[in-house]
Amino acid sequence: MLLIKNIGVLQTPAGSFAHRGPQQGQNLKLCNAAVLVEDGKIRSITADGQLPEGAGRAETVLDAACRLATPGLIDCHTHMVFGGYRQGEIPLKLQGAGYLDILRAGGGILDTVGKTRAAAEDELFEKSMGFLDEMLALGITSVESKSGYGLDQENELKQLQVNRRLQEAHKMDVVSTFLGAHAIPPEYAGRADAYIDMLCASVLPIVAEEKLAGFCDVFCETGVFDVPQSRKMLQAAQKLGLRARIHADEIDEIGGAALAGELCAVSAEHLIATGDRGMSAMAEAGVIADLLPGTSFYLGKTYAPAREMIARGIPVAIASDFNPGSCPSLNLQLAMCMGYLKYRMTPEEVLTAVTVNAACSLGLEARVGTLEEGKQADIVLWNAPDMEMLVYRFGSNLAETVIKNGEVVKA
Ligand code: NIG
Ligand code: FE
Repeated sequence: MLLIKNIGVLQTPAGSFAHRGPQQGQNLKLCNAAVLVEDGKIRSITADGQLPEGAGRAETVLDAACRLATPGLIDCHTHMVFGGYRQGEIPLKLQGAGYLDILRAGGGILDTVGKTRAAAEDELFEKSMGFLDEMLALGITSVESKSGYGLDQENELKQLQVNRRLQEAHKMDVVSTFLGAHAIPPEYAGRADAYIDMLCASVLPIVAEEKLAGFCDVFCETGVFDVPQSRKMLQAAQKLGLRARIHADEIDEIGGAALAGELCAVSAEHLIATGDRGMSAMAEAGVIADLLPGTSFYLGKTYAPAREMIARGIPVAIASDFNPGSCPSLNLQLAMCMGYLKYRMTPEEVLTAVTVNAACSLGLEARVGTLEEGKQADIVLWNAPDMEMLVYRFGSNLAETVIKNGEVVKA
């Protein structure tokens, strides 16, 4: 058993459901708290200087020195398995080329596709293991990983296989998403419909059969996949038991968020350009908004209308979007600061966004996302007395101690 005592404030959302509207800002705050961990799970939580029953039998005692404790952070949107990097794009971007201009010219995602196809599975695995180590040290204890840089059967399956190996080899919980429809590969230039048909007929059945992903995603965007193509892909995936999520309205509002509502997708992601129709459909269907402020920053775009979404009763999650193009940062703490300053979410709303709502967006809510008895002991002690401090400092890593599955992985 592990006893964590002398926690200044233990702050957590409560319950295993997506928090919407006023619930988004409701966190439980326990002062002078202690947590007793047994077999990787939270056995009990006490407050006001009381120690849990059985605390005396703990083999390990951790003194939190009055620090803030929260659930481990959950990054519910990343593209973390990729070959190479794309630092060469920045000068083009600074000269005025847009994200979609670079993609149209065969760069952007397609540049990473070339490098990912050329990389051996082991190479991708080792590189991603390094990213997971970095994330864990930042207080992230669960993460989503999308494919989408293979864009053919062999290389999409290679990326998903890397996801499987990461989940098995690393302490982090890794949730795999199939994003075969991330861009139109060069072999299918001008034939997006044929590419979607190929994915549905040949790749998706293998992904489902071999349980290589629990989710299917599509990049629904101008010049990439339109609404009918996205609908076809996601419905085919739903039929095979995968849950739907969608890159929607990142650059143009072409109806991706409305489609998420129509299909009862688990989440719609980005939503920078989403307006009334998309938000109404999402609110009605209970779709989670996975917002990615780091991408707005990096692409020089506006920020998703988070306050309006919360007011309309849409549960909001915040994620990094870590990828080699539109957001080469895996620092979710930085995204949390942007959630505070740019989305104008309260520190409590931000914590809900990166814990329980992110867990719901990945289907992990029964196990992680809150500090409650019976949940997995994924806990971070912060070098901060309160959430206000955590979202105020930016650029530093404030994760002092990280506990994953009851094991101290960063001390
Ligand atoms: O979420 N927009 C599509 N996909 C990623 C970017 C991928 C890339 O640029 O390599 C995103 O922003
Ligand atoms: Fe993305």
